[in-house]
Amino acid sequence: MMYDLILKRRTIRKFLQEKIPKDILKKLVNAARLAPSAANLQPVEFIAVDQTDMVKKIFGFTEWAGYIEPEGRPKKGEEPVSFIIFAANKNIASRHYKVDSGLAAGNLILAALEEGIGSCIIESCDRAQIAKIINLPRDREIEFVIALGFSAEQPVFEEARRGSIKYYKDDRGILHVPKRPLEEVLRFNGYP
Ligand SMILES: Cc1cc2nc3c(=O)[nH]c(=O)nc-3n(C[C@H](O)[C@H](O)[C@H](O)COP(=O)(O)O)c2cc1C
Repeated sequence: MMYDLILKRRTIRKFLQEKIPKDILKKLVNAARLAPSAANLQPVEFIAVDQTDMVKKIFGFTEWAGYIEPEGRPKKGEEPVSFIIFAANKNIASRHYKVDSGLAAGNLILAALEEGIGSCIIESCDRAQIAKIINLPRDREIEFVIALGFSAEQPVFEEARRGSIKYYKDDRGILHVPKRPLEEVLRFNGYP
């Protein structure tokens, strides 16, 4: 089950315009906060935004699918309905907050997928502007945001051939995501 979900998961950039119930958002953040954390310091906080005008504003400060710009940006009526912003609490001195937030994101996006909710992790965003919108305290630092919504597309993965890892859309508008073949990235017992 879990393995199937992991294989099925793709980044989603088209969403239904249907709100995510608050208790589901809570469930997703619960999955995130229970992730492994170096020294169990837990420096990462999660700001869940589902208020329509705030979501719209944040959307305006996010960049989507650089390889296929502007094709990958959600069009009108396909925008995310929620964002969860990952912020590090700088009062908690952890050198590993980036690993922590990555693991928390992994938990969150898989828990979301189980609910039929698609996600896109977004590093390319205007952190200063987003910080203003959410009234972020100075001692917190935005890591990335995760855009969320019920999925309205079904991207597929394929084996990367000839080394090309650039995702692309086919004639039917389906997003293809090349992944490096297992035999290219797996080494049993070291390199020859
Ligand atoms: C750390 C990180 C940052 C990312 N930043 C962005 C981004 O700014 N905009 C975007 O559209 N996708 C972003 N993505 C999504 C990647 O483009 C996506 O994971 C990749 O193309 C592989 O597709 P897949 O998630 O379907 O396997 C990011 C993913 C990660 C892990």
